[in-house]
Amino acid sequence: MSSTDTASLHTDPSLFAGVDVYAVAGNPISHSKSPAIHQRFAQQAKQLMHYGRLQPDIDSFAQAAQSFFAAGGKGMNVTVPFKLDAQNLADVLTPRAQLAGAVNTLWKTEGKIFGDNTDGAGLVRDLLAQGIALNSARILLVGAGGAARGVIGPLLEQSPKSLIIANRSNKKADELVKLFADLAGSKEVALESRTLADLEDVAKTQHPFDLVINATAAGLADESPLTPEAVANIFVPSSFAYDMVYGKTTAFMQQALQRGARVSDGLGMLVEQAADAFLLWRGAQLGSAIDPRAVLAKLRS
Ligand code: ATR
Repeated sequence: MSSTDTASLHTDPSLFAGVDVYAVAGNPISHSKSPAIHQRFAQQAKQLMHYGRLQPDIDSFAQAAQSFFAAGGKGMNVTVPFKLDAQNLADVLTPRAQLAGAVNTLWKTEGKIFGDNTDGAGLVRDLLAQGIALNSARILLVGAGGAARGVIGPLLEQSPKSLIIANRSNKKADELVKLFADLAGSKEVALESRTLADLEDVAKTQHPFDLVINATAAGLADESPLTPEAVANIFVPSSFAYDMVYGKTTAFMQQALQRGARVSDGLGMLVEQAADAFLLWRGAQLGSAIDPRAVLAKLRS
C-alpha cells in the first residue's frame, strides 16, 4: 500500500473545524461501505458531519481511538477485528453491549466514552423488513463466535419458538446457551446447542427451520459450514437463509437456493446497524428523517 493510501485511511477530526467528525475503524478498512451509508443518512436528515475511515495497526486500536476522541471525534463505528478492543475501551457499556460481548458503536459524552452494539438490532430489523416472521419461528444460528453472540439477545427478544446454536465444536455453543439461558427462559424460547455434525442427524435437530442464519466466517473463504447431509435436513422451500456476509451469493446461500429456499446476504443488516448508530449519535428524533431501505436499495443498484 502506498503512503497516500495509508493517509486516506486516517481521519483526523482536527482538520474539520466546525463539523462533527465520525469514523469507522477496522483492519482492513478500505472496502468499508460505512462512509457511503452514513453520508447518505446525513444528507437525508440534513446533518452537517464528516464520516471517514481509520485503520489502526492490529495492536493499536485503543491508542488510535483515544487520539481520535482527543482530537474532537464525536463517534466511531468499529468492525473486524476491533469489536472486543472497543468493548474494553468504553467507560460505559449499554446492557446489550455487555450481553453481546462486543461493541460496534462508540461515542463520547461529558468526557466519557460510551459503547453499544447495534448489530443484533440491525439484523432483526432487516429480517422484519424482508417480511420474515420471528415470533414463534424455529431458528438455526450457525456459528458461535463474536458475530453469533452479538445477535442472540435481539433474536430471543422476538420470542421465537426455538433457537438452536450450531458450531463445529460444542464448547463455544454450549457457553452461549448458558450465557443466554435466563433471557431465553423469560421469553419461553427453547435455546439449545448442537455441533455441525449433529445437523446431519435428523433425530438431533428440530428440522426443518424457518430461518437459518450463517454467522460463521466460512463464507469469506467461499465455504459453507453445512455439509450436504445437513442441508437436506435443514432447508425446505419455506425456509429463509440469511448470510451475514454481504456482496456475494455465498456457498451457504447456494445450498439453500438448491433446496428451493429464499436467501439474503447481510447488506441490509449492515445498513440497519448503521442507522441505529446514526440515531444514537445524532438523536432518535431523526428516526423519521432517515430511510435505511432507500439507502440499501441505492447500495444494491
Ligand atoms: P466472528 O467474530 O466473526 O464470529 P470468531 O469469533 O473467530 O469470528 O468466530 C468464527 C466462527 O466461525 C466460529 O463459530 C467458527 O467455528 P469454531 O468455533 O469451530 O472455530 C466458525 N467458522 C469459521 N470458519 C468455519 C468453517 N470453515 N466452517 C465452519 N465454521 C467455521
